Amino acid sequence: MYRIAVLISGSGSNLQALIDKIESGYLDCTIECVISDKKDVFGLKRAEEHGIKTFVLERKEYVRGLSEVIYEIVRGKVDLIVLAGFLSILDGDILKGFRNRIINIHPSLIPSFCGIGMYGIKVHEAAVKSGVKISGCTVHFVDEGTDTGPIILQKTVPVYYEDDACALQLRVLEQEHRALPEAVKLLSEGRVNILHNRVQISGWEDIDD
Ligand code: GRF
Repeated sequence: MYRIAVLISGSGSNLQALIDKIESGYLDCTIECVISDKKDVFGLKRAEEHGIKTFVLERKEYVRGLSEVIYEIVRGKVDLIVLAGFLSILDGDILKGFRNRIINIHPSLIPSFCGIGMYGIKVHEAAVKSGVKISGCTVHFVDEGTDTGPIILQKTVPVYYEDDACALQLRVLEQEHRALPEAVKLLSEGRVNILHNRVQISGWEDIDD
């Protein structure tokens, strides 16, 4: 069984999408644990309701060393780490130990509106302000940079003139809930290859939710 750890900092709607897709049978994997860098977030409740083990590692208590503690928890226990709205930056040995086994979901079409400081509503504010007509989300591997790892998949949404950042955020979030389970499915089925920093997917046409 393919084992994943999900790291969160907030409401955990992407975590919920993974839970739902496991329960529906779309994903053949198990969530071994949920780790949050904030206490009292709704994502933790979602995990608890489904009997998933949770860890709270508050960022302020682990100014240095948060990544090390996470590494200790997941090392040898999971096949994949999924950053689902996780706001801390992973660094150090975990990036080597889990090379090409950590993924993140970002609410824009990378390489637009990403990088240091680009998270949450700020991403959508920047997209609306720029006047782009298409936005979306990206699931990518995590490397030493910020939002720089190989892109696994992207989904697009239209951006309307009338949109504010909140409207766009909701439209993108719907697509995140499709994209993240799809990416986990592809990985769990061993269908993702990285060649020269680009991702090649085998049997792409079979993927459907
Ligand atoms: C999502 O927009 C995700 O792309 C971003 O943070 C948000 C988390 O939402 N990284 P949720 O906690 O999964 O509801």
